[in-house]
Amino acid sequence: MDEELRIKGKRRLEWAETHMKVLNEIGGRLVRDNAFEGAKVGMALHVEAKTGMLAVWLARAGAEVRLASCNPLSTDDSVALSLKEDYGIKVYAKKWENKEEYYGNLASVLEMRPDYVIDDGADLITILHTSRRDLLPNIKGANEETTTGVIRLRAMAKEGNLNFPVISVNDAQMKHLFDNRYGTGQSTFDGWMNATNLLVAGKVLVVAGYGWCGRGIAMRAKGLGANVIVTEVDPVRAIEARMDGYRVMPMIEAARQADIIISATGCKDIITREHLEVIKDGCVMGNSGHFDNEISKTALSEMGAMPKRVREFVDEYRLPDGRRIFLIAEGRLMNLAAGQGHPVEIMDMSFAIQALSLEHLVKDHSKLENKVYEVPRELDEEVARLALETMGSKIDVLTPVQRRYLDDWQEGT
Ligand code: ADE
Repeated sequence: MDEELRIKGKRRLEWAETHMKVLNEIGGRLVRDNAFEGAKVGMALHVEAKTGMLAVWLARAGAEVRLASCNPLSTDDSVALSLKEDYGIKVYAKKWENKEEYYGNLASVLEMRPDYVIDDGADLITILHTSRRDLLPNIKGANEETTTGVIRLRAMAKEGNLNFPVISVNDAQMKHLFDNRYGTGQSTFDGWMNATNLLVAGKVLVVAGYGWCGRGIAMRAKGLGANVIVTEVDPVRAIEARMDGYRVMPMIEAARQADIIISATGCKDIITREHLEVIKDGCVMGNSGHFDNEISKTALSEMGAMPKRVREFVDEYRLPDGRRIFLIAEGRLMNLAAGQGHPVEIMDMSFAIQALSLEHLVKDHSKLENKVYEVPRELDEEVARLALETMGSKIDVLTPVQRRYLDDWQEGT
């Protein structure tokens, strides 16, 4: 065992624990209630320190836990090692997994025959509905962490193909308003700085997609001094981007001007051959969306450009006409593959929602149908109240007169 690596991971986990005050508070209560006694929880999340603390709290509250990564590049090996050695968590993940290893690790999680699943991107849930249908009768419910996963699961539910209830953790306000926006906003540039050590100020930076993640990336890019262009397919979001002060145009026009392109759409084929034909020499591209299909590596290879690693997390692709294009982290989630993921305080709130949603599933799964459910409003509010407390902020409370005023439609001004 690599002792130095283990100590590094342990320190990262302890640092996360120190700053995950909401999860600690909720976790303490779950432990006192022995909330997950006997529950088998299979998890596929990004294996890094904050996720580690979620797994540890679930185990402390009585769950048997297995954890794999939901992305072949996002594992922090030091944390994976410490989770196994210091916390007794069964972890199946390493950085730079190939496809076989990735799916092998998801299979190892499923070997525990879980009752509950916590997924990020819905790969584990998809496997349960395809090659491991034999395990479906065991599953009482699942939580899904991210936009991309929720989109897949809603499509499954719409076709009547979902075989257990799923809580859309992503749709909780205390998740997407902060994790997707401020989390992705900051962690994308953590990945950028770590991968490239290049300047953002003064560059033309194209953000593809103006959902919550794109909004966060554009906001932080502007703050770093970039000249930001947003590309969108949704006209309402496009207007929002304009009014937030960005230029808006189709990707084919944006690509001609871009020094940096960051995609965060959750859709595929954002950068394809037609865009690569016009991109400037030296353009650096990265993806903050869940899957590595936003920037087409197939198009690059079809154009005769092969990857050459020029930094730890950067590949150079030289096109036949001599233009060089740089791709961060193989087009996978740049904020986790090249950075340390979202800030601790952000994942504190997201994983507090995860823990409470799991408790909800454990208590109420028998009342739920095979549908995608929103996180109950009171769980969102509980996390909001606790988070506000940890920030040392207080807010006003409605007086009885104000409450009556809001409830009474007959009362005028
Ligand atoms: N850390 C753990 N899970 C994460 C996620 N989904 N996004 C960013 N950072 C994370």
